[in-house]
Amino acid sequence: MWASAVLLVLLGSFGANALDNGLARTPPMGWLAWERFRCNVNCTADPKNCVSEKLFMEMADRLVEDGYKDAGYEYVNIDDCWMAKQRDANNKLYADPERFPSGIKGLADYIHSKGLKLGIYTAYGNFTCQGYPASGMHLELDAQTFAEWGVDMLKMDGCKQMDRHTMKKGYPQMTKYLNATGRPILFSCSWPDYERGAGIPINYTLVAENCNIWRNYVDIQDSWQSVLSIIDYYAKEQDTLVPVAGPGNFNDPDMLIIGDFSLSVEQAKAQMAMWAILAAPLLMSNDLRTITPEYRDILLNKDVIAISQDNAGIMGKRVLQDGDVDIWTRHLEYWEEWGVVFFNNGTTATTVTIKLKDIGFSYILGYDCRDILNNVEFGHIEIEQLRDWHVPAGPGGVLMLYCFDSE
Ligand code: GLA
Repeated sequence: MWASAVLLVLLGSFGANALDNGLARTPPMGWLAWERFRCNVNCTADPKNCVSEKLFMEMADRLVEDGYKDAGYEYVNIDDCWMAKQRDANNKLYADPERFPSGIKGLADYIHSKGLKLGIYTAYGNFTCQGYPASGMHLELDAQTFAEWGVDMLKMDGCKQMDRHTMKKGYPQMTKYLNATGRPILFSCSWPDYERGAGIPINYTLVAENCNIWRNYVDIQDSWQSVLSIIDYYAKEQDTLVPVAGPGNFNDPDMLIIGDFSLSVEQAKAQMAMWAILAAPLLMSNDLRTITPEYRDILLNKDVIAISQDNAGIMGKRVLQDGDVDIWTRHLEYWEEWGVVFFNNGTTATTVTIKLKDIGFSYILGYDCRDILNNVEFGHIEIEQLRDWHVPAGPGGVLMLYCFDSE
């Protein structure tokens, strides 16, 4: 009797505190300013590229007009450096009035009028990573302010909160305040990444109870090396990270840099393919006003997006290494449906000769597979059949398959 009463109280408090916004049933898709536009606040010298409402409005226009919204990209996310340098007389955050003359509410209205959603950024601790005012002492007020403005997603960073041990308390407090606003706000947490950096053990159960998506590892930069180091981290940590991902909860390997300055077309395909296999948020950080069609087509590849957005929300993992090629699989919603990536770390094109059975496919009547980056049907394949798989030259050449059970 007592035990069940205690349990009820515990469950009650868990229910009230845990994130219950119903969001991110599949990995969120959209656009995020940081990697491409950084903390460029000089609108006099660089009016086209500074962090201003104009930038976000122009990206929203491109999302709608160039097919991204139809493909599923819906969030337009502000990152650091949007705030005025001080809070207002009521202690509220407000946007820099010169760069955001409509205020965040006005920007949110614009974004919503396009059928899109607005994301914003703050930090745990007194300052953002770039030294702007952050939410440290004002978590509740800021949660309310964001909700009043009509914000749909919040990224809470934390590099200036030097005592990383406090994050396991602070982030769940913000979760509670976000819940209390009654507005569903997707919560993106940087907390595990800071714990990792400080050598603090990460309690992923707690993270998943409180956050929709979370950063695990260092910031992505505009280089292939950076993409590769992130993929390596996820491979190394997959036994910890795969079990915590699922509808409502996803590991975040950071932004897509497809269409920026560094990735070749092949490498851009590799990032897209891998982020889909990892059930990662697809948040592009690029300039949609100037991106070239070959990169845009990669971002709009329907078959790859279908794997990313599969309803089961299972995160894929590396299942086999064959010479320079790593093979990753992601189990999809239906019984024997899979996404597969052959990822070439070497520099020359190569052939991997394996059976589907070697990568865990077990349906005895076999599978049908298709190369979804080049739209080539491979037809029916038995699980015991040794078959050659041609993988393009690397570093970062990929072959991506969609396979399903067939007779
Ligand atoms: C940290 C985050 C980045 C970005 C910057 C902004 O480095 O990890 O994603 O938000 O801060 O200053």
